[in-house]
Amino acid sequence: MRRVLLLVPFFSSVFAASCGEVVEIEYDDVVGGADVTAQVAEAFGPGGYGILAVTGVPASLTAARRELLGLARNLARLPEATLAKYERPDLNYIVGWSRGREKFLGTLDDAKGSFYANAIFDSKSGRKLAAKYPASTATPAWPDADLNANFSGAFKHLSRALYDLSYHVLRRCDYVVDDQLNVKKRWWWWWRRRRIPLAAITHKRSRLHVSRLLHYYPSATGSWCGWHNDNSVVTALVPAMFYDDDDDGRELRGDEVPPDAGLEVFANGEPVKVKLERDDVVFFQIGEAAQVLSGGALVATPHRVVAGTASTHRNISRESFAIFVEPNWDEKLKPPPGRSLPDVYAAAHADALIPPLPTRLPKVPVEFAQFLADSVREYYEA
Ligand SMILES: *[C@@H]1O[C@H](CO)[C@@H](O)[C@H](O)[C@H]1NC(C)=O
Ligand SMILES: *[C@@H]1O[C@H](CO)[C@@H](O)[C@H](O)[C@H]1NC(C)=O
Repeated sequence: MRRVLLLVPFFSSVFAASCGEVVEIEYDDVVGGADVTAQVAEAFGPGGYGILAVTGVPASLTAARRELLGLARNLARLPEATLAKYERPDLNYIVGWSRGREKFLGTLDDAKGSFYANAIFDSKSGRKLAAKYPASTATPAWPDADLNANFSGAFKHLSRALYDLSYHVLRRCDYVVDDQLNVKKRWWWWWRRRRIPLAAITHKRSRLHVSRLLHYYPSATGSWCGWHNDNSVVTALVPAMFYDDDDDGRELRGDEVPPDAGLEVFANGEPVKVKLERDDVVFFQIGEAAQVLSGGALVATPHRVVAGTASTHRNISRESFAIFVEPNWDEKLKPPPGRSLPDVYAAAHADALIPPLPTRLPKVPVEFAQFLADSVREYYEA
């Protein structure tokens, strides 16, 4: 098994993050059908860090990342009046540009600016879907002209590449779930214990996936984003890029990035810093929909983004991009046969850091859209 040391020790004001190893899998193995189930189980099962690195991704993907993250910075620095053209208050700002519109733990969050879109399927994919889920299928106004760049092309290209890769990872996640649930291959067992595979829920039954391009403005508080779980089945994200705004927006090399800045996951009772000295990588994190649908065999990854002590004394900004691979909004969330809701609750990491799952998911089955709404209420209006 190939693993690299990609977590480094450091001290934050709240917790001292530890060092450890994150499981790494070669891109060619994942898409080529190699048996990597054991590695996926190690990354996502109980005791894992809840994060998986797919390394050696194609150069076209690395190039798309650089292009789009560079544009994120340009977008976020457009005049406010220009950015207002890309806001959709009628859709609660979940399409197009959004800054300072969402609450996090009761306060308006202006630490970051986001551009949201369903870049895999849009309203052209079907009128019925568009009528039922206007916000999830609305095509945003793309800022290509204001940026004088092919922003929409880069955004869609990277979304598609990450979404396609997620299928291969989710197939392995399904093997891990079957192993944990002890599903027998005999057909009558299969029939009795059947569950809809995560790969089918996200890639055959759902068209509602959300891509989010993020610019984190230089932070005065040391925090870019507090602890949370994603609601998705799985989230695919590319390594972030950092810029020094005091130095003409120069991109920081890996070793220039303040060591305490960036993504942390919470695993085995402590925060763990995620850092990788290469950029041909796509990270995967488990979301809560997968935790429910797998009966706790897969565990959502609590994570946060730290601006770091060094960046509060320097004007450093951060760009990142993720796609939330989700169930369709009317998909019923419930644990598979043989597992109960208490199994789902018991699997959770870090209930003290995030709004506990029982308050957001008191019963099953519940439609994914309802779960999203209940989670948003607990997180943002608490
Ligand atoms: C924009 O990028 C997309 C995806 O890479 C590409 O297919 C398209 O041709 C580009 N459009 C222009 C006008 O360059
Ligand atoms: C960051 O940049 C802003 C505007 O350019 C400036 O007002 C501020 O003093 C800078 N902050 C630090 C800590 O250098």
